[in-house]
Amino acid sequence: MTTKIFKIDPQNIDRRALAEAAELLRAGGLVAFPTETVYGLGGDATDARAAEKIYAAKGRPSDNPLIIHVATPEDAEGYAVTSETYYKLAKAFMPGPLTVILPKKDTVPSTVTGGLDTVAVRCPSHPIARGLIEAAGVAIAAPSANLSGSPSPSRGEHVKRDLSGRIDGIIDGGDCEIGLESTIVKLDGAHATLLRPGAITADALSCVCESVSVAPAVTEALAENERPLSPGMKYRHYAPKAPLVLLAGDGDEVLSFLFRAQNAEKCTILCYSEETEYLRGERLIDVGRREDLTTQAKTLFSALRQADDLDGDIIYAHLPPTEGLGLALYNRLIRAAAHTVLHVTADQTPS
Ligand code: TXA
Ligand code: MG
Repeated sequence: MTTKIFKIDPQNIDRRALAEAAELLRAGGLVAFPTETVYGLGGDATDARAAEKIYAAKGRPSDNPLIIHVATPEDAEGYAVTSETYYKLAKAFMPGPLTVILPKKDTVPSTVTGGLDTVAVRCPSHPIARGLIEAAGVAIAAPSANLSGSPSPSRGEHVKRDLSGRIDGIIDGGDCEIGLESTIVKLDGAHATLLRPGAITADALSCVCESVSVAPAVTEALAENERPLSPGMKYRHYAPKAPLVLLAGDGDEVLSFLFRAQNAEKCTILCYSEETEYLRGERLIDVGRREDLTTQAKTLFSALRQADDLDGDIIYAHLPPTEGLGLALYNRLIRAAAHTVLHVTADQTPS
């Protein structure tokens, strides 16, 4: 299949190109598009066949449900049973990087929801995403536009690399602002359970919801046979080819460990900007300053892809904090590392 590439400037949207891409969606085709979080692989959310094509193009298990994207928070009414808390969240955070799990309506085929009776709804803020949903005139079901098992795509080139030849169109709209997938919450009255942390933090949610709890699987490995709250939790996403080890401990000790590691083994390092002057440049990836979690979020998935290309035997990265946006970084990295954390102590030697 030839994939049509639409290069669209989000600041100056080519409406004709967008209409052409929307036409592909209306005809049952698949089009990848940028959002403020990561790129999505879109299909008509009311079309079971389109959903099947999405699972096939990504190589994704079909019991892992898709998020449906709507142009306005009110448009959720056509697909889900909303609530007072949903609208409070919408008022505070939509359009934006928040996904809410709601009881589904029959307009959404069960193929889209992986057989669940709930549906994940998100109203993205990216102008291309919004324009595309409006032009299509229907909600767009879209998982992240990566091949299953590789990091989510935060740049057009990531999508082209993973999905060219497998889908009908790709809208390249440049780099995604946030770089990590949306926050996902499940509502129970005025209580919210955080299923996936993102740029809308638990603290921000607490300002709107009566109470917020963080699902244990956000930070801990699922116990064997444990039934996950979200099907996505059971899959090992975002896995780099080489083993990834997360380093915890005092900043100076971790830096000196990295210095020694570069002499002892063929390692790739995801380091903070302020560390680059102390380390050799080979297989060294700068993810931003230690305190700058926003830049680290934006860089993470590119850095993991770059690490795969660099072909080291092992990858080291810092264990992020679990507060604020740190929790979203922590959640992605701890899973990519299959929960491998090394607590660095003085004079510890690399493996
Ligand atoms: O930022 C994002 O959310 C991006 C952009 C494209 O919008 N999308 C995204 O989709 O990350 P995806 O498919 O990669 O992740 C969706 C997650 C999966 O872990 C899935 O299991 C969960 O949402 N999910 C979807 N529907 C659900 C439901 N009804 N109940 C619980 N979890 C659900
Ligand atoms: Mg994904």
